Amino acid sequence: TAQFAVFGHPISHSLSPQIHHAFGQQFGIELEYRAIDAAPEAFAEAVRRFFLDGGHGANVTLPHKAAAFALANQRSESAIRVGSANVLTLQGDGTLAAHNTDGDGMVRDITERHSTDLRGHTALLLGAGGAARGVAWHLLDAGVATLTIVNRSPEPADALADAIGDPARAHTRYWHDLADIGSFDLIINATSAGVLGTALQLPFSLVGARALCYDLSYGAAAGSFLAWAKTAGARYAFDGLGMLVETAADAFELWHGKRPDTDPVYHALRQQFG
Ligand code: ATR
Repeated sequence: TAQFAVFGHPISHSLSPQIHHAFGQQFGIELEYRAIDAAPEAFAEAVRRFFLDGGHGANVTLPHKAAAFALANQRSESAIRVGSANVLTLQGDGTLAAHNTDGDGMVRDITERHSTDLRGHTALLLGAGGAARGVAWHLLDAGVATLTIVNRSPEPADALADAIGDPARAHTRYWHDLADIGSFDLIINATSAGVLGTALQLPFSLVGARALCYDLSYGAAAGSFLAWAKTAGARYAFDGLGMLVETAADAFELWHGKRPDTDPVYHALRQQFG
């Protein structure tokens, strides 16, 4: 059986093993997929050992995405733009290839599963850390009219806008100006506040009449942002569970050459998360 794993820290609650086994069942593919907890200082060695011991592919989650990118031998265009990787794949010649499927997964979840065309939307990206970088370029590729990046500390937001290098469309504003910057059609919460158990204090004025609010996290971590969005009158409020399933499907296709049907897996997980 082919061997796969997800590396993270912590990792015990990862849904990736369940998702990949469900995808495998769709094609009668038997696979071993486990969750490997590695502290940052042990990550590179744990990855090396996994691939030496017969590993074929690995997902990588917090806090290892930048390290995964750094240790790979080849890097996809998406991974290079973002500067981090969520997929590592063993190549025929023994080298490792890094991909980043986060942005594609999020856009596919919004545009296909939730049937929302992002073209022409004014977009607000909250946060400028790894998660925000992972989706910023893909929002522009999906056709948003403008991308306003707002981060609690301004430097990472400015660095991200500079890296995008499209000042007519992508620019930054200060966090303390959130009450004065009007409303948006699309608001993406890419901060780690929810994961850390903190609620963002956001003005309702951000939410436009047809607004779609999206949290990159899911479950309890997305709860307070989605509650805020609904109270503010957002037309749609979605968590990132669909994004997780879509990014997993991209990894599965890279490894197995087959495109899984994500809908049944998404709906089964949705039952678990309400
Ligand atoms: P991730 O990989 O999840 O993006 P990260 O790279 O550590 O993690 O980035 C965390 C992001 O959440 C940052 O944009 C951070 O803002 P700062 O750069 O100012 O630290 C943001 N964040 C975390 N807690 C927050 C809070 N309580 N309010 C606002 N932003 C917060």
